[in-house]
Amino acid sequence: MQQDPGGRPPSPRSVLLAEVAQATQRLADAGVPSPRTDAEELAAFVHGVKRGALHTVRDADFDARYWEVVARREAREPLQHITGRAYFRYLELQVGPGVFVPRPETESVVGWAIDAVRAMDVVEPCIVDLCTGSGAIALALAQEVPRSRVHAVELSEDALVWTRKNMQGSRVDLRQGDALDAFHDLDGQVDLVISNPPYIPLTEWEYVAPEARDHDPQMALFSGEDGLDLIRGLERTAHRLLRPGGVVVVEHADTQGGQVPWIFTEERGWADAADHPDLNNRPRFATARKALP
Ligand SMILES: C[S@@+](CC[C@H](N)C(=O)[O-])C[C@H]1O[C@@H](n2cnc3c(N)ncnc32)[C@H](O)[C@@H]1O
Repeated sequence: MQQDPGGRPPSPRSVLLAEVAQATQRLADAGVPSPRTDAEELAAFVHGVKRGALHTVRDADFDARYWEVVARREAREPLQHITGRAYFRYLELQVGPGVFVPRPETESVVGWAIDAVRAMDVVEPCIVDLCTGSGAIALALAQEVPRSRVHAVELSEDALVWTRKNMQGSRVDLRQGDALDAFHDLDGQVDLVISNPPYIPLTEWEYVAPEARDHDPQMALFSGEDGLDLIRGLERTAHRLLRPGGVVVVEHADTQGGQVPWIFTEERGWADAADHPDLNNRPRFATARKALP
């Protein structure tokens, strides 16, 4: 082992630390929003350890493939496509081209839903996840709400390749189809409808981060000029599915907090329509209760 000029032997991971620092700088220069975290995650991925165990990688084990994955991230390929995994609440999901990468802001939408279902005091709550993508929402609810009966629907065959992998061995009832025409067999029986649908206005295309714009499926992102086409349709679907007193929770863009709750009006059979912020205090999801007769 080489001695530094001060006579001390280098730490067993000084090479890795230096490479991660250099990668962090390259990712920052490329405009990656969390360069240090991503540089560490990529190092952990290449060396087959968790990020928290990076200190166990010895200099002698440094793997030059690190620079290949750093270059991909530098080109703004999503971290999760490179590693093939995404974390969502207590889940580790498989993701890649063809499926939307679940986002941290959706975790608070699920958190609200879990609280709402618990407050209902229903023994076997019936939950429907419309536009399930990787299955993140449906799987989290199945895991965190014991005895729930969870149903999920997704339209895209490309996304479903990943949904099926993630749901293998789970008790979620997964179906392929249009969310707006789904689950007629459950009409009037559902306790909670949840959805993170596509909602970005087409007019905002040029402002979308390259990771999403160039790698998430277009069908997962956009929904008409103002982004609300699918949410307007989901309002009718949720009303059809829910039992009286059941609740709907729908994620939206942080610019849509003034619009989405107004889709769930009293005239259309809703009560208690409200909007809620995410952990960054940005408007993030609307909720409403199906009015009692
Ligand atoms: C923003 S992604 C959300 C995925 C997942 N729920 C999540 O939170 O990570 C929206 C998903 O809706 C699906 N989708 C779009 N239109 C749909 C429709 N009419 N019926 C069912 N799924 C649809 C897309 O393919 C995509 O997987």
